[in-house]
Amino acid sequence: MKATPSFTIRNGSGMSLTASALGGIVTSLRAPDAKGRPGEVLLACARPEQHHANGYMNAIIGRYGNRISRGGFALDGEFRALAQNSGGRKHPCSLHGGAKGFDQKVWQARRFEAADGPAIEFTTLSPDGDENFPGNLFVRVVYTLTRDNAWRIDYLATTDRPTVVNLTQHAYFNLNGGARDVSDHVVQVNASRFTEVDAALLPTGRVPPVEGTALDLRDPVRLGDRFALAAKDRLLKGVGGGFDHNFVLDRKGPGLDFAAFFADPESGRTMEVWTTEPCVQVYSANFLEPSTPARRGQKYGRHWAVCFETQHAPDSPNQPSFPSVRLDPGDVYRSTTVYAFGTLDAHEDGCSCGCHDR
Ligand code: BGC
Repeated sequence: MKATPSFTIRNGSGMSLTASALGGIVTSLRAPDAKGRPGEVLLACARPEQHHANGYMNAIIGRYGNRISRGGFALDGEFRALAQNSGGRKHPCSLHGGAKGFDQKVWQARRFEAADGPAIEFTTLSPDGDENFPGNLFVRVVYTLTRDNAWRIDYLATTDRPTVVNLTQHAYFNLNGGARDVSDHVVQVNASRFTEVDAALLPTGRVPPVEGTALDLRDPVRLGDRFALAAKDRLLKGVGGGFDHNFVLDRKGPGLDFAAFFADPESGRTMEVWTTEPCVQVYSANFLEPSTPARRGQKYGRHWAVCFETQHAPDSPNQPSFPSVRLDPGDVYRSTTVYAFGTLDAHEDGCSCGCHDR
């Protein structure tokens, strides 16, 4: 069997990224620590094929990132049943694109030089009826390593029939090279509201304030301090003990906006998340198993990473009050997310994200 190709890009400023044509899975992402030494900032499995069964690790997610309830959705009066690939018999739902989502596709991939740095382009044509979603969907995802040390992801999609689209990346960030869990990492999320979910992790339609709850991450908090509340706190306990919530971002307008900040005091690495999307799913790897076939010499488990899955809200096709995820022929779906890496001293000296402004 021919191995699926994989591609490496280097930006000349200390960052490198390796990704497979299988699911665009990132098997290595390295960024400098406070002393300028490059190290891994993502967990990874030993082989790309293992990432799907281990929490969709580091893959492109589509056609619909996150959950869809009610067995599917209706579009223009036509019901589309979706694979019930999550939640078991008790709470069945469709998760991350269905039985064979974009993370399991072999994409066309090539390396090229973009204006602001080396890049990898992934393209695919998802045929009409793929996982029972309507329309032939052309998708292009570009990973760029910018010269100022950001991993930028640009998503584009077009269709020939009305459909729904919600693309994201399921990267498992651990800024300390996966040396230990992320309890000592600091997190901040620029969101005053979140989408409330039921026991099945499906949105109720309500979007309550984070104020006064364990989900208030508007000022930086040490993750371990929140994980310590998980056994008793209703919101953290209900999602497997930690964060697995869709935060509705406090956006200033259209375009790229600050979504989240993540930092590891030990290595001194920081990461800012900027996005054009209205929401981010913050998932603290609550279901990551110690049996994960980790990259050589490593062992992972619960709370060993945080995913910042920029997106439209879960179950939007069934929630008329949420921003629409509909894509029509002639329109272009575009979404951009930037994971910008730096170090704590530089961050203290003057960040651009506004996290000190509050
Ligand atoms: C979801 C989690 C799920 C995980 C699977 C996240 O996007 O929010 O509930 O367990 O993906 O890896």
